[in-house]
Amino acid sequence: MTTKISQEEMAQQRGFMEKVAEINSKGSPPVAHVHTFGCQQNVSDGEKIKGMLAQMGYGFSDTPDGADIVIFNTCAVRENAEDRVFGNLGALKHEKRRNPDMIIGVCGCMVQQEHITRKIKQSFPHVDLVFGTNSLHMLPQLLYEQLTERKRKFFIPEGDGVIAEGVPVRRESRLKVSVPIMYGCNNFCSYCIVPYVRGRERSRELLDIVSEVKRAISDGAREILLLGQNVNSYGKELGTSFSELLREINAIDGEFRICYMSSHPKDFTRELIDTIAECEKVTRHFHLPVQSGSDRILKLMNRRYGREDYFGIIDYIREKVPDAALTSDIIVGFPGETYEDFCETLSLVERVKFDSLYTFIYSPRKGTKAAEMPDPVSADEKGKWFRELLEVQGRIGENAYNRYVGRTFRVLCEGDGRTQSSLLTGKTPQDVIVDFEGDRSLIGQFVNVKIEKAFNWALIGKIIN
Ligand code: SAH
Ligand code: SF4
Ligand code: F3S
Repeated sequence: MTTKISQEEMAQQRGFMEKVAEINSKGSPPVAHVHTFGCQQNVSDGEKIKGMLAQMGYGFSDTPDGADIVIFNTCAVRENAEDRVFGNLGALKHEKRRNPDMIIGVCGCMVQQEHITRKIKQSFPHVDLVFGTNSLHMLPQLLYEQLTERKRKFFIPEGDGVIAEGVPVRRESRLKVSVPIMYGCNNFCSYCIVPYVRGRERSRELLDIVSEVKRAISDGAREILLLGQNVNSYGKELGTSFSELLREINAIDGEFRICYMSSHPKDFTRELIDTIAECEKVTRHFHLPVQSGSDRILKLMNRRYGREDYFGIIDYIREKVPDAALTSDIIVGFPGETYEDFCETLSLVERVKFDSLYTFIYSPRKGTKAAEMPDPVSADEKGKWFRELLEVQGRIGENAYNRYVGRTFRVLCEGDGRTQSSLLTGKTPQDVIVDFEGDRSLIGQFVNVKIEKAFNWALIGKIIN
């Protein structure tokens, strides 16, 4: 069952925070190293982990060297993500030998899988604490027990997931702020581990979100990233919707931009597109993961739309938001995919003309439906298809940004330039990187930038008044 953690339980955790802070106040200030692997959701969880640690008196370092506590916040989406975590964990063995008092914690999506916790138990004895995505808010208690009892602990409560309000957050950036609006996923795309490790879909109350956004904006935020595995199914169980949430946030005073991720084509309704078209603060970037262009494969993936449905959404976006930028995710080599199926993906990519693509070779995930399907195509062959897709997209994307040259956009000055450090950088409303000359005192402000030149990954412009 999904539960909102009660006020009393949260107060209890605050009590543990104070106790740990007291322990920490006795010696020299302790140092924590938190390494987040994975998507924006995990980065956002990482900000909560750091928020709690900061309140408990920890400072932070970028490396595990000499740290008093190391936490790996892990991702399970593809095999290489898990391999990276195991590689990094292995390397900590030496560090722990040098510094036996170091506490090593592993949390996040990987440890929601039983075969992974078993492997950690057996092969990584230097790991002290393992806690699941449902017990993040209990870190103060778990840490207190570590500091006082020093017993190895694996804490992965069963259940469909929780919502914990009021966990302190230590944000990576003051200007660009991530706000989770929902957790979990109910879609069970057949290749995907996320619904198994993140539990069922559950939305935060609209008022909780709006007040967090208002607070962030009055603290200086100029970009709000609304997070969820499938944001466009936000609020279903609460009798509200993503459109309603966007309208509420768009109505907040002040100049700022609203971004969101991820969205699922099956829930990307015309009403939502109309809302986005009307809400001037909402990004003009549409990231709509299509995964495949073959109806047969889409069905096997359990995506619940076909290629014609997808074209319908894209055409409506282009009609309502003519300056939209479009990007997508694609999986190559799903079990049973043939070259003919793959060619359907190529033809979809040719038809839509995405600005850019995130492409992945299928990675079997234990416990998912797809992992049980026959997968006769060799890794070599999949690699060939993958490169073919990159070539096709490379050709399409090469001149895609030329269409922006000569136009003027409202751009948030975010920091030092990405093409040259002497420039400033920001993003257009389409989420395209643009560098321009300007004084660093402009960082944090919106300016009008006229685009003068396009590369295939960024724009160069000039501030005009
Ligand atoms: N909830 C989001 C993102 C999920 S993970 C969404 O639905 O868009 C991000 C991307 O990783 C997915 O869009 C998919 O393209 C890719 N992915 C997920 N599982 C995968 C797997 N088992 N193998 C390869 N790619 C995968
Ligand atoms: Fe995975 Fe599909 Fe859910 Fe995205 S919508 S997290 S791809 S199951
Ligand atoms: Fe990875 Fe978990 Fe995100 S599996 S992609 S960190 S939700």
